[in-house]
Amino acid sequence: MEKNAFCSLLNVQYPIIAGPMFLVSDENLVAAVSNAGGIGGMPSLNWRSTADFRAAVRKVKELTKGKPFAVNLIVNKSNIRVKDDLKVCADEGVPLVITSLGSPKETIQTMHKVGSKVFCDVTSLDYAKKVEQLGADGLIAVCAGAGGHAGALSPLVFLPYLRQYVRLPIVAAGGITHGSQIAASFVLGASAVQIGTRFIASKEANVDQKYKNAIINAKAEDIVLTMKISGTPASVIKTPYIEKVGLELNPLESFLMKNQLTKKYTKLARGLWGAKLLQSAARTTTWKEVWSAGQGVGLIEEILPAKQIIERLIDEYQKSEIPSLS
Ligand SMILES: Cc1cc2nc3c(=O)[nH]c(=O)nc-3n(C[C@H](O)[C@H](O)[C@H](O)COP(=O)(O)O)c2cc1C
Repeated sequence: MEKNAFCSLLNVQYPIIAGPMFLVSDENLVAAVSNAGGIGGMPSLNWRSTADFRAAVRKVKELTKGKPFAVNLIVNKSNIRVKDDLKVCADEGVPLVITSLGSPKETIQTMHKVGSKVFCDVTSLDYAKKVEQLGADGLIAVCAGAGGHAGALSPLVFLPYLRQYVRLPIVAAGGITHGSQIAASFVLGASAVQIGTRFIASKEANVDQKYKNAIINAKAEDIVLTMKISGTPASVIKTPYIEKVGLELNPLESFLMKNQLTKKYTKLARGLWGAKLLQSAARTTTWKEVWSAGQGVGLIEEILPAKQIIERLIDEYQKSEIPSLS
């Protein structure tokens, strides 16, 4: 794979980001991906405190010896640590910050002062235009089928749509587990990809074996969107527990979530409850199986070291061809 403009911008060998994943991405996974020539990503909230997060960043720097890596910051009001975690990113010179939810303005200004790049998760054209005006360096186009909080638009639509109206580099995210999908994303206008679910079934992912096995055993059709975890649609594997609790909020929960007086606390409480469920399912054996994953599960067949996953993706990419029309 030739180095492209994204590779030059981030000083990386391959235009592949291992998407930051709550509970899944720790220092080892991030370092393994960055050392294999991609960019390992981790959410700052995977650590209980800002001090622990700083220690993790230092550990990644030590393990990767100057190779690029990424940190995800949730930049809306629900994240009470955002200012402190942003300061860590700036102090430690984190090469790439990926923002999600809320306005990335302060993050962009702060990280640009230390020469780092900021890419923003986007699920709509309007929001992409907004972050372009704020000075973002690139977009993570979160498409339908993605793990975590999926977008609503198909990559077939969203990538060329962004390409047509926004000038920033585009990173395609959602459902990518095979090199041919990287090639397809590039044809559609992306210059890099962000991959999450594939790396849950990696040797380094910091989750219980049952979760990794569930990724391998699940079919694409098993992925459903639930409102129950955070109040916004999140992709999970349809397990008996998910079927039991249902996918929608009940009328009272919906009312409390929308009401001006109660929405802040309801969202916070729902988020804490969801995070706790995800945590016990990711790290222990429980019948409350809430496993976050995207539609890419259908193509994942084995647990591999992250380096091998990257190598395989590159190999598949090299072998993919656009068939001629005649
Ligand atoms: C288990 C899981 C947890 C995730 N947690 C986060 C997160 O904390 N922050 C974030 O920006 N994205 C998060 N994501 C989204 C990924 O970074 C990435 O954009 C997405 O997984 C790409 O879609 P794919 O899973 O279909 O490859 C998560 C995804 C998964 C599967």
